[in-house]
Amino acid sequence: MEASMRSELTPTNQRQTRRNPAWNGLVAFGAASLLALMAGSAIAAEPTAIPVTDSTFKCLGEMTKVRHFFVDNLNGDTKATIAVAEKGSGDYPVGSVVQLIPGEAMVKQPKGFNAATRDWEFFELDVAKEGSTIRKRGFVDVVNRFGGNCFACHVKARPEFDMVCELEHGCDPIPITRRMLAAVQKSDPRCAMPAMTEDDQQALKELDEVLKTMTMPAAAPKQGT
Ligand code: HEC
Repeated sequence: MEASMRSELTPTNQRQTRRNPAWNGLVAFGAASLLALMAGSAIAAEPTAIPVTDSTFKCLGEMTKVRHFFVDNLNGDTKATIAVAEKGSGDYPVGSVVQLIPGEAMVKQPKGFNAATRDWEFFELDVAKEGSTIRKRGFVDVVNRFGGNCFACHVKARPEFDMVCELEHGCDPIPITRRMLAAVQKSDPRCAMPAMTEDDQQALKELDEVLKTMTMPAAAPKQGT
């Protein structure tokens, strides 16, 4: 398990980035924080993954809500993450966590992990009262429980939006309304007191109907060169 997670987190474009002098500076900088994080167990020349485990994820209500979604930062740089989210465009800082619903999350890994996803790692979670369990994680090949490939949809956001879809960033629309999303957010079982109203219950019923017929792209589009 650990070994497979490791290989998944190995940068794909490492050889190429090693030749870039600017990158060497970043690596040197990263190596210092890496030592602090991992007590010297990793290879210093590689960008180190921000460790993400089941316990990384929490009740959405404990994150910061910006418009209709939730953000956090695993490096403690929450202010910078909120600033990009509020601005609505630009690159999210390393460590950013973005969630729309309890069961799906994006985490920004350090530069060099995956050029295609702009270093976003996609997660699908099982959530329960007891907490979160990571069902799937990865970069271009994570498929959600509805058969949709995260990357295939999110890559369609225009470059200035850093893979964040919202409603008008260029992603194909999903048939799930903001009202339904709000109800799903409130039903997060990890939160101490989910505050569901009757209208939320109704919205969840409508969502069930939508999910019965919803189709999603299962594979990432062919990447250009
Ligand atoms: C069918 C296309 C599609 C798939 C598949 C998909 N998403 Fe999204 N996602 C969207 C759209 C569209 C939105 C914006 C919805 C809105 O704002 O109402 C969104 C919103 C989000 C957001 C909130 C930030 C944003 O981009 O607006 C996160 C986080 C997210 N998705 C993560 C994931 C993860 C993780 C997966 C896979 C496990 C995934 N998504 C699969 C289309 C998709």
